[in-house]
Amino acid sequence: MRILEYDEVDEQQVLELNLTCFGWFLTPKQVKTIRKVDKHVPDYFSLYAVEKEEILSQVGVVTVDTQTKHGVEEVGHIWGVCTKPSAARKGSAKKLMEETHARLLTDDIKYSFLGTGKSLVAYNLYRQLGYVDFVDLNWGMKRCKPIKQSDIDVTFASDTKDESFADLFTKYSNGLLGFVHRPKNFLQVRKAWSWMPISMSGIFRKGKKHIGYVLGSREGKVVRIRELCCPRIEDTKRCIEALEIKFKPKYMTVSWMSRSCITKEFIKSGFKRIDESWGAFMIKDLEGKHKIDQIQSAYGIEEDKFQMTTIDEY
Ligand SMILES: CC(C)(COP(=O)(O)OP(=O)(O)OC[C@H]1O[C@@H](n2cnc3c(N)ncnc32)[C@H](O)[C@@H]1OP(=O)(O)O)[C@@H](O)C(=O)NCCC(=O)NCCS
Repeated sequence: MRILEYDEVDEQQVLELNLTCFGWFLTPKQVKTIRKVDKHVPDYFSLYAVEKEEILSQVGVVTVDTQTKHGVEEVGHIWGVCTKPSAARKGSAKKLMEETHARLLTDDIKYSFLGTGKSLVAYNLYRQLGYVDFVDLNWGMKRCKPIKQSDIDVTFASDTKDESFADLFTKYSNGLLGFVHRPKNFLQVRKAWSWMPISMSGIFRKGKKHIGYVLGSREGKVVRIRELCCPRIEDTKRCIEALEIKFKPKYMTVSWMSRSCITKEFIKSGFKRIDESWGAFMIKDLEGKHKIDQIQSAYGIEEDKFQMTTIDEY
């Protein structure tokens, strides 16, 4: 088995592998776009386990800046781990993961993160490789009732420039830790990957002032919030109400990954917290130097300072 880089393998096989394993149609054109807009992608793009010209497995990684109490920490974020069913359980995904870790270490990167599901067989692979659970991923949902428009002084507008989102995120994330260093073209990057499309986005205004934004999707009468950021957390409730007035959904859902002060605002707005989930966001200390609670402390999890939403996941 050889380990090759994206540019050394057959693009058509990459496309078929991702379609088979994830239902993801990763065309050569999309790879080109991702490489152009996402500065987090390494030169090799992704790695492949190949036997007799046939791709068996894939592992991708990007490197992103995160903030810890000790300063900026560049970390790896693994994506696209898969093996074609006929080649499963021969150790090829594990070998690719090990090669990826070695490349990260060569670049002085200490931590590797990834998002997965505890219900997937991949969870065993990651545990075997030394990954441990880092933060929980929980869901919230609300059954919506009609709201009187006259009570709300916040408006929602979908047609807004990407810079407005970046400005609000910069204000919101001031003093927080974790995934707070987003590039200016963050939304363009997310759209380029597009495995989970953002079909609903917009800014909340009070008068002329921008007070928050939302990113998510709408499916019929369901509004799915992936990120709702207000620099003043206490504006969250009114922004949720403005969203309800705009779209009149029957249900709203939200995915929470970190800060409990945000979760509390959603609960004040009528969301129910669903405590159980199979979702997992994991970390591996590539140097094997620190205990998990030391790393969680460096990212301010106990102090409610760790910032991340599902939008940050690759
Ligand atoms: C997860 C996946 C990539 C594993 O690929 P693979 O090449 O078969 O994995 P490996 O042979 O390298 O297995 C390494 C370890 O992973 C775990 N593992 C892999 N397949 C497993 C299975 N079917 N059941 C339980 N554990 C499994 C085991 O711990 C295994 O070690 P072992 O064989 O010594 O017990 C593959 O099953 C896959 O593509 N799944 C579908 C896509 C997916 O869910 N990707 C992960 C997204 S987060």
